[in-house]
Amino acid sequence: MSATVNWIPEGLDREVPSAARAYDYIAGGTHHFEADRKLGDQVLSVLPARDMSRHNRQFLQRVVRFMVGRGIRQFLDLGSGLPVMGNVHETAQQAAPECRVVYVDNERATIGHSELILRGDERTAMVGEDLRDPDAVLNAEATRRLIDFSQPVGFLMLGVTQFLHDEDDPWAITAAYRRALPSGSCLALSCFTWDNDPETMRNTVEMFQRSGRTPIVPRTGEEVRRLLGDFELLDPGLVFTPQWRPDGASGAAEERSNLYAAVARKP
Ligand SMILES: C[S@@+](CC[C@H](N)C(=O)[O-])C[C@H]1O[C@@H](n2cnc3c(N)ncnc32)[C@H](O)[C@@H]1O
Repeated sequence: MSATVNWIPEGLDREVPSAARAYDYIAGGTHHFEADRKLGDQVLSVLPARDMSRHNRQFLQRVVRFMVGRGIRQFLDLGSGLPVMGNVHETAQQAAPECRVVYVDNERATIGHSELILRGDERTAMVGEDLRDPDAVLNAEATRRLIDFSQPVGFLMLGVTQFLHDEDDPWAITAAYRRALPSGSCLALSCFTWDNDPETMRNTVEMFQRSGRTPIVPRTGEEVRRLLGDFELLDPGLVFTPQWRPDGASGAAEERSNLYAAVARKP
């Protein structure tokens, strides 16, 4: 168990698995309980989720450093999970200490853990809202306090679009956020896809259905592209996560994953 002091909110039910803690378990973190590990093992029985999460986290770090390199100093991260293991605020503030980060998640336990982990950090905050409600996210007190919408924003939706169903209309949701962002902002996505290994994805979708969990929705490359709207797709375009600007320390042009990556800029 983690050495992090006081990251467990009072009254937490450890028997209820958490998507964010299961992800932390899969990714090799230390913030999880038995029920989360059980969920994580179920996922690992059908999906190479360890490699996927490693590639996804390394993509997150490369993309945040890329955005800081382009002068971005504020980040809005939807479906953020636990703010641990080199997450956005650690990576951004290491590159430029003045960076401000707003995390958004709708899982109660994750909100509670995150608030405790981030306590005392004046440049980073947790907003407990459903990302499907852009007005609530954009008008939340912490968003208003930390994000200046007259300056470019690093807007991240990583490893979360699989939880948005077509009926939720993820394209309309991302369009609402895109409209709120000023020119020069960058949108980064990583999305579960069918396009790498359809059979594994079918097995994964079926496993989530069979186990009565929230169904997951992988997407095609075309569906992911549409999430970018009229933003300008930056090099190297829509690729698998390890292929997005490998930097010698992480990523590789010839590696593949079941997650697409894309970064686009508001003209
Ligand atoms: C797999 S984790 C990804 C964490 C992180 N973004 C990353 O890429 O490392 C997905 C997170 O999205 C959150 N999530 C799912 N649906 C959401 C929604 N409608 N609104 C806000 N957060 C959501 C889950 O609670 C979970 O913490």
